[in-house]
Amino acid sequence: MTSATTATTATTASAASATSATSAASAASATTAPLRVAVIIGSDRHGRFGPVIADWLLSRVRTREDLTVDVVDVAEAELPTVFSPHPEPAVRDRLVRVAAQLDAADAFIVVTPEYNHSFPAALKNLIDRHRAEWQAKPVAFVSYGGISGGLRAVEQLRQVFAELHAVTVRDTVSFHGAQAHFDDEGNHLDPAGPDAAAKVLLDQLTWWALALRDAKAVRPYGR
Ligand SMILES: Cc1cc2nc3c(=O)[nH]c(=O)nc-3n(C[C@H](O)[C@H](O)[C@H](O)COP(=O)(O)O)c2cc1C
Repeated sequence: MTSATTATTATTASAASATSATSAASAASATTAPLRVAVIIGSDRHGRFGPVIADWLLSRVRTREDLTVDVVDVAEAELPTVFSPHPEPAVRDRLVRVAAQLDAADAFIVVTPEYNHSFPAALKNLIDRHRAEWQAKPVAFVSYGGISGGLRAVEQLRQVFAELHAVTVRDTVSFHGAQAHFDDEGNHLDPAGPDAAAKVLLDQLTWWALALRDAKAVRPYGR
């Protein structure tokens, strides 16, 4: 090997090492950034109780320094139920905004009531309008309802999110007969149990979100 070739090889190796160091540095900075959690409010019924549950959850999430939070409210998103290839500009703007919010999230918490043993149509519409935005990300559930506490809605949502390559978190927070457990200011009347359940949920969600974010930095998800 000539010395010129050796120098070229050394330069190439040094450039590769610099590139590798840059990648490692950017992976390290990505790994230490707070996780971005999107809280999805899944009901859009007039007079809905969903915002009370969501505000309780947000007060719990905001105690965590390792998480930043965004809110996607299906009532505010007003997504059309017709899948048109050419939506009006105002509709398109709303679709783009919501897609960007979901895309930016590392993890999701879906706040869902139970409607007739399932979850609301507006929530299904939001889910079905997106695909890559959910993939290889964790999804946790906070549910509420009548006697069921929304648990049947959650079980159905697990099947839907599996199809979308999302990972659902085992533990949930569930409010049975939800409205009886909150005062008029939205405070839970006996918060110790729900607060403990929220901590477990957030810990599990964080573990999965970090694990998947780290994994994707090394090896992008292939679907
Ligand atoms: C159309 C409809 C169907 C419902 N079906 C159930 C049900 O199957 N099981 C249950 O426990 N509660 C059921 N409920 C009670 C709701 O879960 C409860 O009222 C909840 O607060 C609804 O969420 P929202 O107020 O955010 O719309 C139903 C309520 C509605 C409006």
